[in-house]
Amino acid sequence: MRTVEWTDQNRVRMVDQRRIPWTLAHVEYDDYRDVALAISDMVVRGAPAIGVSAAFGMALAGIQCTALDVGSLLEYLEVAAVILKKARPTAVNLAWAVDHMMDVARDERLDRAGDVREALLAEAERMADADVAINKQMAAYGAALIHDGDTILHHCNTGMLATVDYGTALGVIRMAHEQGKKIHVLLDETRPRLQGSRLSAWECEQLGIPYDIIPDTAAGYYMRRGEVTRVLFGADRVAANGDVVNKIGSYQIAVLAKENQIPCYSVFPTSTVDLAIPTGDKIPIEERDPAEVRAPYGCAIVPDHYHARNPAFDVTPHVYFSGLVTEVGVLPPPFADSLAAAVRHAQPPVEA
Ligand code: MRU
Repeated sequence: MRTVEWTDQNRVRMVDQRRIPWTLAHVEYDDYRDVALAISDMVVRGAPAIGVSAAFGMALAGIQCTALDVGSLLEYLEVAAVILKKARPTAVNLAWAVDHMMDVARDERLDRAGDVREALLAEAERMADADVAINKQMAAYGAALIHDGDTILHHCNTGMLATVDYGTALGVIRMAHEQGKKIHVLLDETRPRLQGSRLSAWECEQLGIPYDIIPDTAAGYYMRRGEVTRVLFGADRVAANGDVVNKIGSYQIAVLAKENQIPCYSVFPTSTVDLAIPTGDKIPIEERDPAEVRAPYGCAIVPDHYHARNPAFDVTPHVYFSGLVTEVGVLPPPFADSLAAAVRHAQPPVEA
């Protein structure tokens, strides 16, 4: 199943992740502005999935624009690029994908507007296919770190729903399971949006992976009891020094893992690495509506006027990771060197 795809009617089709696990429903968009809204409202979420959704959004913008000349089409696309990039600020895959689509559109060899439109759609389709291939490659490297009998603590949702298909950290778990390793997964529920209990548990149900949902606050309890042997989570942006920005709560489980001598890994494609940002503290952290804390999915826990804060991500300093899993391999410390080499290897500069 693909989380996001292009339809024959020139629309972007996505799984509506707000409705899982109760209903597997899809939504379709024929306006790139609605794709931007779907990203901010978390109809689609997860760094790789929002990157590819934005790429399809750019292809949609190309088709929506009726301009006959390349110059006017590019002007329209530049506006679309700004709107899509603003949809969520932290995951660099979003900006990376949109900038990449603008580079494709600006290719001087494309001298007709129709050629630009075709190139945009072909590139978005290629990025979607590449995402799946990259995830499987990462999973193969990561699965080698998982042993028979492991209990893996996992945070948020990093599976097929967070990507086009297969997943990053949950993809590693899936591959280890498919290899026949006897593993168990503890899924942090991941408040306030509950990506762990709603989405990761749904995926484990589909795939037959043994799991238990645990309250976020129980992670330390299970680690201290010796019931956790690996900690895995994804990344929304990785700084040049290896600091990882990921779903709120990742930092505390990484610290607890180190305290309890449990190896902790972040799993992400090299498109999540931002070498222009030296450390995690320079990465913008999205603050979401406090209503999500007061009333998750409309279930009021406290009155509307109670004060709340809702940071969507946190920074885990690089010292807490035993390794970083990418499509190029499992990167060892020092991460400043291994990340730069991995990005060079995976994304060689485009020839003029
Ligand atoms: O707010 P979300 O659900 O988009 O946050 C998702 C995460 O933090 C994931 O861990 C990250 O995007 C990696 S998903 C492959």
